[in-house]
Amino acid sequence: MTGEKSTEPLEAPPLQPAPPCTLVIFGATGDLTKRKLFPALYNLASASLLPAELAVVGVGRYEMSSEALRERLKADLESFATGTPDAARSAWLLERLSYVGGEIGDGATYVRLREALDRVEAERGTRGNVLFYLAIPPDLFDDTIHHLAAAGLIEETGRWRRVVIEKPFGHDLDSARELNRQILEVLREQQIYRIDHYLGKETVQNIMAFRFANGIFEPIWNRRYIDHVQITVAETVGVEQRGDYYEKSGALRDMVQNHMFQLLAFTAMEPPISFAADVVRDERVKVLYAVRPLSHEDVLHQTVRGQYGPGLIDGHEVPGYRAEKNVAPASAVETFAALKLYVDNWRWADVPFYLRTGKRLPRRVTEIAIQFKRAPFQLFRGTAVEHLSSNLLVLHIQPDEGITLHFQAKVPGPDMHLGKVKMSFAYADAFGQRPSTGYETLLYDAMTGDSTLFHRSDMVEAGWSVVAPILDVWQALTPRDFPSYAASTWGPAAADELLQKDGRRWRTL
Ligand code: BG6
Repeated sequence: MTGEKSTEPLEAPPLQPAPPCTLVIFGATGDLTKRKLFPALYNLASASLLPAELAVVGVGRYEMSSEALRERLKADLESFATGTPDAARSAWLLERLSYVGGEIGDGATYVRLREALDRVEAERGTRGNVLFYLAIPPDLFDDTIHHLAAAGLIEETGRWRRVVIEKPFGHDLDSARELNRQILEVLREQQIYRIDHYLGKETVQNIMAFRFANGIFEPIWNRRYIDHVQITVAETVGVEQRGDYYEKSGALRDMVQNHMFQLLAFTAMEPPISFAADVVRDERVKVLYAVRPLSHEDVLHQTVRGQYGPGLIDGHEVPGYRAEKNVAPASAVETFAALKLYVDNWRWADVPFYLRTGKRLPRRVTEIAIQFKRAPFQLFRGTAVEHLSSNLLVLHIQPDEGITLHFQAKVPGPDMHLGKVKMSFAYADAFGQRPSTGYETLLYDAMTGDSTLFHRSDMVEAGWSVVAPILDVWQALTPRDFPSYAASTWGPAAADELLQKDGRRWRTL
C-alpha cells in the first residue's frame, strides 16, 4: 500500500468477449432492467465484452412493439448510464433488442418466446445459447422456470441454457428449500445463477485478492491476532417506493442473510486450492456452516433490531418507516439489524463478528473492519502513551473503495509520544474510476459460465439456517420500542450496548 498514483496492472491476457448468445430479460419494463441491467450491458458493450452475435429479448406483460421498448430503454439509458452514453454504442445495443409481450403464467407467451429465439438465432448467429434473466417478483420464479422447461427452452444439447435468479431466494429456510427443490426438478444446479449484486462489487472480489495474493496478511488473519471483526452496511435511504416488498422482508432478510453473509464468508473463508467456481464456493459455504447456531436465548442477547422513526436529513423532515407508502401504521418490521456471531472453527474460535445494517442511518457506507489485538507487551507503559490503541484494517467496500491500515507512530519531538496514523489505498487513485453498476461482472460471468460469484443452493440454505432462530424469536416477540431510532442516527441504543457489554464499541463512521 503506497500513496503512489499510478499502478501497473499485472500482466493478464485481455478478457475475451462473451460467447454468442441471447439474453432474455423477464421483467424488461421493470425497474431493475432500466436502472441496472441495461446500463450494465451498455458498459459491457463499451468494454468490448459482448459478443458481436448478441441478441437481447425483453419479455413483459404489456403489449408493446420492439420499437417502443427500444425508445424506452434508450431514454432510460440517458438517465441511468454513468456519464453520457455514446450514441453509436447505444445504437449497437438497441438494434439487438426485441420484445415479446405476454403473461408469465400463460403457455402462449413461451411459444412466442421460442419463435423469437429461433428468429434471433437465424438473424444474429447466437448459436442457440440463451441466458434467461428473471428480473421478476420471487413468487413467479418457479412458474416461469417450469414454463420454460415445458416449452423445451432449457434443454442444452449442443448449446447452453442458463437462468439467472434475482433475490430474494425464499423468505425462510423452508421456502428456500422448497424453491430449490422445485427448480432443480427441471434445471441442473450448473444452469442456475442465483445472483447477489454485492458479489459484483469490485471491492468484495478484492477481499480474495487482498488476502490470497499477498503473503503478509494471511499469517495474521486468525484468532491469534484478530480481536474482532465489524461489518457495517449503512444506508441513508429509507424504503422509498418498496414498502410493499419490505413489509414482507425487513433488514434481516433483505440484507443480512444474503449480502452481509457473503461479506462474512469472503472475510472468514480458508484459502481455496484453486479459483474454480465450486472450490471457492465450497470454502464460502463452509464459513456459513461454521457459524455457531443461535439458541432462542442467544437471540435475545446477541441480536438487536430497530425501526426508524421520523427525523431530519440535510435539514429536511423525513417520515418514519410506519408513515411510508404501503407500510402498516403499526408495522413491526425491522429496518435495522445488528448481530454478534461466532465462526466455530480453528481459525476463528471465540472471535466475535459483529454485523450491523440499517436504513436511514447518517452515512452510506459499507465496510469490513478487522480489529487486531493490542501489542502483547506494553513497552510504553509509564510514558505519555498510556492507552495504546490496536491496529485496525478497514476494507472499504463503498462508496470510497479502498483499504486503510491504522497504526501508531512516534510524534516528532524529544519525548515518546505516539500518534494514530494510517496508510491508505484508494481504488480511484490507483486504477482510476470505471463506470460500474455492479452487474457487469455478474452478467459477463453468467454469459461465460463462471458461477464463482453466484450463490449455490447449499449456500442459500446455510444462510437461512443461521437466521432461522432470529426470525422465530423476532416473529414471536412483538417489539415494544418501535420506532426505536430517529432517522439519521446510528440505530437503537441497544446496538451500542451489544458491543459495550463486551467492552467494545462500533467504529464511528
Ligand atoms: C438490495 C436491497 O439488495 O440492496 C435494498 O434489497 C438495498 O434494500 C440495496 O438498498 C443496497 O445495495 P447497494 O448496492 O446500494 O449497497
